[in-house]
Amino acid sequence: MTWETTTEHQNEKRKSSMLQPKIQPSDGLSFRTCTVFIFMVLQSVGEPSQLICSHQPIVALAGDDVILSCHFEPAINARSQTVIWTRTDLNPKYIHYHNPGGMVDLDQNPSYHYRTRLFVDELKNGTVSMKIFRVKLSDAGKYECSLPLMKMYVSIQLTVGAVSAPVIEFVSNQSREVVLQCEAKGWYPEPELFWLDGEGNLLSAGPTETVRGPDDLYTVSRRLTVRKSDNFTCRVQQKNINQTRETHFYVPG
Ligand SMILES: *[C@@H]1O[C@H](CO)[C@@H](O)[C@H](O)[C@H]1NC(C)=O
Ligand SMILES: *[C@@H]1O[C@H](CO)[C@@H](O)[C@H](O)[C@H]1NC(C)=O
Ligand SMILES: *[C@@H]1O[C@H](CO)[C@@H](O)[C@H](O)[C@H]1NC(C)=O
Ligand SMILES: *[C@@H]1O[C@H](CO)[C@@H](O)[C@H](O)[C@H]1NC(C)=O
Repeated sequence: MTWETTTEHQNEKRKSSMLQPKIQPSDGLSFRTCTVFIFMVLQSVGEPSQLICSHQPIVALAGDDVILSCHFEPAINARSQTVIWTRTDLNPKYIHYHNPGGMVDLDQNPSYHYRTRLFVDELKNGTVSMKIFRVKLSDAGKYECSLPLMKMYVSIQLTVGAVSAPVIEFVSNQSREVVLQCEAKGWYPEPELFWLDGEGNLLSAGPTETVRGPDDLYTVSRRLTVRKSDNFTCRVQQKNINQTRETHFYVPG
C-alpha cells in the first residue's frame, strides 16, 4: 500500500508549516490518523484542492489520439475516487466510468467502446485526464469530468477537425491565359481557400465553390486565371482548428 504512505507524506508536507505546533499525537490517537483527520478538515474548510480542466477547447484532428486533461491543484490522491466522464448530450451519456475496482463497461456509449482510457497510475498524483483514441468528428462536444464523492464537476470542450492537402489542376491554356483549379477535399469545419503569387500576395480569383458531403466533410475549390510566369500557391486554412495546408504550382514563361 505504497500510495497511502505517499498521501501521508504529502499531507504532512503541505500542512506541517501551519499545523506543526498544534499537532501533538495524544494517547490512543496515532499521529497518522490525526494528520489525516486534520487534512480532511482543512480540505473542507481551508483552501481546498481544485479540479482544473483545460479552459481552452482541446483541438484534435480526425484519426488522432487526444487527451482531455484534468488534474487536482494542489495535487491530491484520487485513487480511491470514482471518476466519471460523460457527455450529457448523448444517450447513454457515459463515456468512461472508473471506480476504484476498475472500469465499468455498463452503459458506456457504444461509440466510445475500446476507445477511452484513464491514466490509472497517475490518479495518485491527482491526474484524472481521459484519453480518446482515433478521434471521430462525432466526438466533438462538451465533456464533463465528475468525482461524485467530492461533488466536483468540471466541463471541457473538444473540437475535432479534418484536413487534407489541396491539389492543383491545370484546366486550360489559351491565348496566354492559363487557368488553374485548386481543390481541397475532406475538410471540417469549412475552410477558406486563397491563391497567392510567388511573393505571397493574395490574388483575386474566382468564387470559392463549396460542397458538403454526406460524411459532413467539405470540399472547396477555386479557379485562378494567370497571365504571367510565377510560382503560385494555393492555401487552405481553418482558423478554429488552427490548420493550414498549401500546394505550389509553377507556371513557366
Ligand atoms: C505521477 O505518477 C506517475 C506514475 O507513477 C509518475 O511517473 C509521474 O512522475 C507522477 N507525476 C508527478 C507530477 O508527480
Ligand atoms: C501553355 O501553352 C504555351 C504555348 O503552347 C506553352 O508554351 C506553355 O508551356 C503552356 N503552359 C502550360 C502551363 O502548360
Ligand atoms: C497554431 O499553429 C501554429 C503552427 O502549428 C503554432 O505555432 C501556433 O502556436 C498555433 N496557435 C494556436 C492558437 O494554437
Ligand atoms: C515554389 O515555392 C515553394 C515555396 O516557396 C517552393 O518550395 C518550391 O520549390 C517552388 N517551386 C518552384 C518550381 O520554384
